Amino acid sequence: MIRAKISGVAGFVPEDRLTNEMLSQMVDTNDEWIFSRTGIKERRMLKGEGLGMSYMAEQAVRLLLEKTNTKPEEIDVVICTTITQDMLLPSVANLVCYRVGMTNAWGFDLQAACSGFLYGLETVTKFVESGKYKKAILISGDKMSSIIDYTDRNTCVIFGDGCGAVLVEPTEENVGIMDSKLYSDGSGWQYLHIKAGGSAKPSTMDTLMAGEQYVYQEGQKVYVNAIKNMADVAIEVMERNHLTADNIQWLVPHQANKRIIESTRERVGLPVEKVMVNIQNYGNTTNGTIPLCLWDYEKQLKKGDNIILASFGGGFTWGAIYLKWAY
Ligand code: UT7
Repeated sequence: MIRAKISGVAGFVPEDRLTNEMLSQMVDTNDEWIFSRTGIKERRMLKGEGLGMSYMAEQAVRLLLEKTNTKPEEIDVVICTTITQDMLLPSVANLVCYRVGMTNAWGFDLQAACSGFLYGLETVTKFVESGKYKKAILISGDKMSSIIDYTDRNTCVIFGDGCGAVLVEPTEENVGIMDSKLYSDGSGWQYLHIKAGGSAKPSTMDTLMAGEQYVYQEGQKVYVNAIKNMADVAIEVMERNHLTADNIQWLVPHQANKRIIESTRERVGLPVEKVMVNIQNYGNTTNGTIPLCLWDYEKQLKKGDNIILASFGGGFTWGAIYLKWAY
């Protein structure tokens, strides 16, 4: 049986930082509120004329290819998960293939909000398991600063910019992506969405004046659903794979709020040292959180480690993936 394994991970976060202190000069907030309610200390901001999501994706992919000694022409397929494409068309995947010289690859963007990395990993896994694709790249990230209203304290303190990328290859060893369970419930759209700029409500001067190009979130509604569903799906995947707190090495939760991470950890029954957390440094980078955790913790991972990835976010979309680290 051919399995798909992650054989390399890389990331890119912009250099510019937006600290809680800086935010407290912009809106009515403070470091104590932000840190105690979300666990965030600072986030990264991509600045520079004309730089969009594809810029971060390109940097992450270049690093990934260099780290894994892979030539751009060896890549067969590229999937990018993001909610902040440079333009409505073409796709970020398409732009990155061109810029990096992945001339034998085709690719596309996939949109599942905060669960994008899991939806993308499921998709890329099936490509690789088919036997047809030998080297696939999954890019996940967002330039959230492009869709956040920096006068709205409910949303501007949470989000940041960043991007991760993984190389996925076939293996006949007993490592790699072992199991997954993904969910979506479109009735959750009303609690987290962008009101204008899509086909249902194209942008006009009125929508722009009303700020409808920015993220709208009813935080409490999303919070309650996240607390329940992220832990439920992680436990579902653990149970059917006979995984317990003892034989799991890492939980990698979507980094939306430290309190959601903490509650998921408690319900799953893991000690704090088995949970990847970097929300304090980057905030919520939406599609970027899980690969950026893998990137930050890569040196601590060992071949054969049992890892559970779990996410919940806009859509609603949520899920969990069980993988055995492959290197
Ligand atoms: O990754 C995508 C999925 N998104 C999520 O998972 C986000 C889930 N939701 C959350 O993480 C939390 O709901 C938030 C961090 C967004 C908000 O935290 P909360 O504890 O749910 O606060 P709240 O919205 O219930 O607001 C509590 C109070 C309110 O004041 P009053 O009405 O009690 O006087 C807010 O106006 O806190 C106020 N508030 C703030 N105060 C200072 C809201 N934002 C701020 C702020 N600084 N930035």
